[in-house]
Amino acid sequence: MNLLQLRGLSRAGLEDWLEAARAMRGGDPVALRQKHVGRKVALLFFEPSTRTRFSFEAAAQGLGADVLAFSAATSSTTKGESMLDTARLLVAVGAGVLVVRDTAVGAPQHLADRLGVAVINAGDGTHEHPTQGLLDALTLVDALGPLDGKVVAIVGDIRHSRVARSALAALTVLGATVRLSGPPPLLPSGLVRPGVALSATIDEAIEGVDAVMMLRVQRERASGPSFASVEAYRRGWALTEARAATLLPHCVVLHPAPMNRGVEIDDVVADGPRSRILDQQRNGVWVRMAALDRAWRAT
Ligand code: NCD
Repeated sequence: MNLLQLRGLSRAGLEDWLEAARAMRGGDPVALRQKHVGRKVALLFFEPSTRTRFSFEAAAQGLGADVLAFSAATSSTTKGESMLDTARLLVAVGAGVLVVRDTAVGAPQHLADRLGVAVINAGDGTHEHPTQGLLDALTLVDALGPLDGKVVAIVGDIRHSRVARSALAALTVLGATVRLSGPPPLLPSGLVRPGVALSATIDEAIEGVDAVMMLRVQRERASGPSFASVEAYRRGWALTEARAATLLPHCVVLHPAPMNRGVEIDDVVADGPRSRILDQQRNGVWVRMAALDRAWRAT
């Protein structure tokens, strides 16, 4: 079974995913390591990644599977080989699941349409990053309980963020309302829909919320400068120690990472008691185990 996007999933569908991730978290690690022995997953990352890649590797190992790791910088793509040919090779040598990250929107779908194996989207351009959205939802439900009526602020470079799009698709369907905020050039109005509003300032966005998700400024996905300077960005849009002090006592802080410490988030906030950033990273492995398990069970 493919996992290409969260947009369009029903509440029951999302809750099934969270339940599957919890089942991995609560499972017997020794038994889980027997589950998919001899299976192969290929990680096709045409864009840099630290967390997502390690997380899928750890997830595959946790299920006893083998990883065929591909890295664009050291492969024949530098000689002009197409993504499809590379993917075909990996299927030919035994990969039953492809985990795909690419700068192009729709690249995982493109492969899923052409190859007879399951494809998991690990981030396609500015479109979606579904396992990230699931780990964000799982982390928020762990911290806050059911999300009905909860308010979540997502602040930063919304325009270029596939993380924001997947989080929006999951959190709104699970009953939360979301406030999006960031510098005007990075805040597209096209994402507004029932349960999603724009806030003109970070202070307005974070007032009274149950959770804040900070996003990195994605310079590599932007076409030109979207703000005057790092210092100006920090003044206008960072979750600083002073701003964090205004949050409700139970409010938690998320960040998909990589973080630009001192730009969008202060160290004391990233490493402080509100931070659930390491929980996100731990939950990522359970979510990805659930995704791999489903993909293999369907084959
Ligand atoms: C994100 C990504 O690559 O979309 N990172 C991640 O997967 N945790 C966010 C980012 O690049 O800022």
